[in-house]
Amino acid sequence: MQRFTDLAELGLEQVQELLALARRLESRPEPRALAGKVLGLLFMNPSLRTLASFQSGMARLGGDSFVITPGQGTWQFETRDGAVMTGAAAEHIREGLPALASYCDVLGIRAFAAGEDLEADLADRRFHAMAALVDRPLINLESAINHPCQALADWKTLDELPAGGRRKFVLSWVWHPRALPLAVPAATVHMAAMRGMDVVVLRPEGYALPEAVMARARRAAAASGGSVTETAERAVALAGAHVVYAKEWGSTRHYGDGAGDQALRRALQDWCLRDDWLAAAAGDCRVMHCLPVRRNSAIADEVLDGPRSLVLRQAYNRLPAQMAVLYRLLRH
Ligand code: CP
Repeated sequence: MQRFTDLAELGLEQVQELLALARRLESRPEPRALAGKVLGLLFMNPSLRTLASFQSGMARLGGDSFVITPGQGTWQFETRDGAVMTGAAAEHIREGLPALASYCDVLGIRAFAAGEDLEADLADRRFHAMAALVDRPLINLESAINHPCQALADWKTLDELPAGGRRKFVLSWVWHPRALPLAVPAATVHMAAMRGMDVVVLRPEGYALPEAVMARARRAAAASGGSVTETAERAVALAGAHVVYAKEWGSTRHYGDGAGDQALRRALQDWCLRDDWLAAAAGDCRVMHCLPVRRNSAIADEVLDGPRSLVLRQAYNRLPAQMAVLYRLLRH
């Protein structure tokens, strides 16, 4: 494996091999496996779990890491081709990224969606432009349209449930004060489809996932024996659900139009996941969220603090899943 940027590029067999490696490293630690190796982490956007779990994972394997947050103690980066650099950015990624890559054995990059041009974000243009400047193993720490590290950890979390979480997986839109990117919903719907689950995307009108995201998930479902559907009907979606994955995202009808999105979401504050949403779900239905989550705005305290919640297990699983990724990228 040369790069970890998209679960779809790996295929089922390689994903399962990574998960087996994650379980092995949990039960039989290898504290010297990556001695002498260095992980570079470039965060163009904030993080808690991704940053801390990668640094911790690299240390637990005997390696070292450094973190760069441009503009916070280091030069601010310009990412636009052809920019006339008269503003705050002192360094272009065309120099900055190869320089960073030359100091490490594997580089992780987080670069969220600009949220202005849906086509550009669906094509992950910004991430691919950055990736093209890196001449060594690369990890996607969350790009405009993908979060493979989260998806791998979530896959492991589902594997830990009775019968792998069984079949009905609902990805439900929940409220947030502003439009958030599509990376996690896109990665999640694909991950669950790749696992062969019956995936239902529940979202209000105006928040349908882009057809390109749904089509990719449907292709994964066709290969795995699962299915992918979409609805705005909460009762229909949640009836019999085994897993409800809550996530916030921006209106695709008003992509890049903050005022349009705000006008639409103003009336949607009842999309806060509460216990009563799950009255007709399976008795052992579990609730997932990638975190960070806004309590009593996206998910109610009663759910997050209740027995259905898997959010802390998901956060924990970032560690072994990413250790497996580092191990596989750096030990051939
Ligand atoms: N879920 C996730 O990626 O968390 P952070 O943004 O805190 O890294």
